[in-house]
Amino acid sequence: MLAIHSTGALAQSVAKSGASVDAHDTESELIHRGHLLAIASDCMACHTVADRGKAFSGGYGIVSPIGTIYSTNITPSKKDGIGDYTEAQFARALRDGVRADGAHLYPAMPYTSYAGLTDVDVHALYAYFMKGIEPVDSVPPKTTLPFPFNIRQSMIVWNLLFLKKQRFAINPNRSIEWNRGAYLTNVQAHCSACHTPRNALMAEDLDRAFSGAQLGPWYAPNITSDPVSGIGTWTDDELVAYLKTGHVVGKNQAAGGMAEAVQNSLQLLSTDDLKSIAVYLRSVRPIRTAGEGTPAFGYGGRGDAAASVDVGPSGTWVTAPTSGAVLYRGYCASCHRSDGSGSKDQSYPSLFHNTATGGANPSNLVAAILRGVDRKVGDTHVLMPDFGEDSYVQPLTNEQIAAISNYVLQHFGNPSVSVTPTDVAIARRGGPVPFLAWIQPFILPACFVLELLVIWLVIGRDVWRRRRARAKANVQEIAQ
Ligand code: HEC
Ligand code: HEC
Ligand code: HEC
Repeated sequence: MLAIHSTGALAQSVAKSGASVDAHDTESELIHRGHLLAIASDCMACHTVADRGKAFSGGYGIVSPIGTIYSTNITPSKKDGIGDYTEAQFARALRDGVRADGAHLYPAMPYTSYAGLTDVDVHALYAYFMKGIEPVDSVPPKTTLPFPFNIRQSMIVWNLLFLKKQRFAINPNRSIEWNRGAYLTNVQAHCSACHTPRNALMAEDLDRAFSGAQLGPWYAPNITSDPVSGIGTWTDDELVAYLKTGHVVGKNQAAGGMAEAVQNSLQLLSTDDLKSIAVYLRSVRPIRTAGEGTPAFGYGGRGDAAASVDVGPSGTWVTAPTSGAVLYRGYCASCHRSDGSGSKDQSYPSLFHNTATGGANPSNLVAAILRGVDRKVGDTHVLMPDFGEDSYVQPLTNEQIAAISNYVLQHFGNPSVSVTPTDVAIARRGGPVPFLAWIQPFILPACFVLELLVIWLVIGRDVWRRRRARAKANVQEIAQ
């Protein structure tokens, strides 16, 4: 049975994140707890197509470097969903990454994090997914990855190497709050799935847990307790506010995957839950990025160069401008002000004292220009328009985006960082390509060459054996 039982107080406090146990739960209480757990675990973000999809009917495409992996229908539809799953099969999918039909799931489904889910929590989640949501009959697009990733059995080896089948266990030497934070951070909210860098085989590198990772065009920054590279000097209130709203003046605004985590999950958690995450993060081993001496939010100040740029009558240009100052003035200053200080209420944030412009990795600055910011929190819809291909404002070229980025970095952010048009081109294509995806095109030819080699060796051995046998026979013949 679950360790969370061990103290009554813990059971009480973990209850707020839906992780408590109570044998006397009625079915509706169980379903309700399952619902809270589904929120904290953010099942919605991946299993629902934003804005148009029916809840949990799947079809959200997770763009990975090796191809798009589509989430599946996890409504209780017997036809297209998981209506026929037993609780044991459901538990196996969640914690071992194996579907009811025995096929292996790709780790785009974060089962390596969910492996820590306790039995009681899986029980409550099962109740919610079977009885708390509407069945939807619809088949999401099929995932078709290139060879060799289309062979799902290859995940058996990967799982042997990287899947820790360890349920979350209370650490009795730590506070109740810390334990709750550890469970939320590592298991339910799977923060490490985004913030921990991955090794060459795309598994989380736990020796560098939470020290920052590239996520396609975005960068999930270092959130270890380090005061320079991590969140060591953020206050608890700032951390809680960031998780609740995705916006902290003088620190950062959540876009990309973090905006989704805030929108679908974190904003709905209780303040106590969010505080416990902050408490846990403070205990994460600090990891300093080599060469960093100032926190990313410490950079920059009010600039003034844009104010002196001559744009010409009514801001129209005869030829497409390439000067960062001119472009900044034309496309950014209306919201972020020409001195970069943002609007008075900071709903258009300052571009100095902002981790997107002060960090050693400029990905979030470039990605914000290419993809914009889109986050619904409570009744507020935070929007920054994008300047990518389909921009309704103005699609900008790689050169123009690099020029704006460099202008922003020089005047408001970290002046030792710069962006090239090639960097922007890479971000536009979905971010840097990891090793495994990079070698993919060579795997099939390599297999072919290997096969030839094996055939050659086998035939060679056969020929050699026959020759030896013949020689032996000759020797025997001569001897006789
Ligand atoms: C980060 C994205 C992500 C999150 C979060 C996520 N899933 Fe998934 N899930 C996926 C993807 C992608 C697949 C399909 C993977 C594949 O085809 O190999 C999947 C597959 C599944 C399956 C297998 C269904 C089947 O038979 O096809 C189940 C069950 C499931 N998820 C349940 C959940 C539950 C419950 C949660 C929340 C606790 C959750 N998922 C959260 C991405 C996610
Ligand atoms: C789906 C991926 C994803 C998940 C899950 C996720 N994050 Fe993030 N996080 C990001 C990205 C990307 C950014 C950068 C946002 C930006 O600047 O627009 C970020 C930014 C942050 C920041 C701001 C750091 C800085 O220096 O600006 C904090 C703090 C943070 N995340 C904490 C968390 C915690 C705690 C969790 C789990 C409860 C979590 N994140 C889950 C992707 C993710
Ligand atoms: C229409 C107003 C508007 C315009 C124009 C605009 N922004 Fe923004 N910008 C915003 C809003 C709103 C946010 C997000 C605020 C929040 O999340 O609370 C934002 C956020 C940002 C961020 C932080 C992103 C992150 O991921 O941390 C950066 C960097 C940024 N803008 C740069 C720019 C640049 C450069 C331009 C010009 C190419 C620009 N913005 C144009 C409104 C605008």
